[in-house]
Amino acid sequence: MTRPLRLGVNIDHVATLRNARGGPHPDPVRAAHAAIAAGADGITAHLREDRRHIRDADIDRLMAEIDRPLNLEMAATAEMLGIALRHRPHAVCLVPERREERTTEGGLDVAGQAAHLEPMVRALSAAGIRVSLFIAPEPDQLRAAQAVGAPVIELHTGAYADAGTDAARAMELRRLIDAAAQAETLGLECHAGHGLSFDNVAPVAAIATIVELNIGHFLMGEALFLGLEATVQDMRRRMDAARTGGAAA
Ligand code: PXP
Repeated sequence: MTRPLRLGVNIDHVATLRNARGGPHPDPVRAAHAAIAAGADGITAHLREDRRHIRDADIDRLMAEIDRPLNLEMAATAEMLGIALRHRPHAVCLVPERREERTTEGGLDVAGQAAHLEPMVRALSAAGIRVSLFIAPEPDQLRAAQAVGAPVIELHTGAYADAGTDAARAMELRRLIDAAAQAETLGLECHAGHGLSFDNVAPVAAIATIVELNIGHFLMGEALFLGLEATVQDMRRRMDAARTGGAAA
């Protein structure tokens, strides 16, 4: 049976635009409502340590006002753990923010930070929060994610999205396919995201064991031209077509 593929819409860059002027407009929570109306299954927001886009008050409002799951992306710090435990969002995705936390491809270095991450995963899980780890499609990192007790991984699709040639893209897609298969074997739920667009989403959406894509930058940029709801609807259509084997035009 084909597994459904969820779309999490990342609204960070609505906040980036808002913060450029310092006022309340455009409102990321309004964008969340529009994305949900257009078919988003959930909303993703990254509360960065420097608060460069999403701010604490946005998380308060998202928790209070949206009726779909919130996936809170955050660094694995004591401050962020406190915030997550206070809000108890549906999911937390632990992401690297500092150079020493990441592998060369930009994912979280779970293997190198297992002792730090394991208690964090445990505390979040004990609070009923579904924890995912944002990692490159590297076998060691998947094994480490399982070892620290995370139920979910999100595969970093940046190397695939940024590949400069067809051959490089095919190689990066192969790594994503292999990692998704490894996740299935390890009993990890598999998500993916970063740099996905209308042009490159279909091959990733076609990987049957990936059950969620988190997409932000492209959707917000394209929304300037098509409108947010039309953009989200178009992405949904492409994802669904690829998942069911239809043409992802
Ligand atoms: N998933 C995670 C864990 C992220 O940190 C981000 C933002 O970098 C995304 C998905 C979405 O990436 P993009 O904005 O490039 O679509």
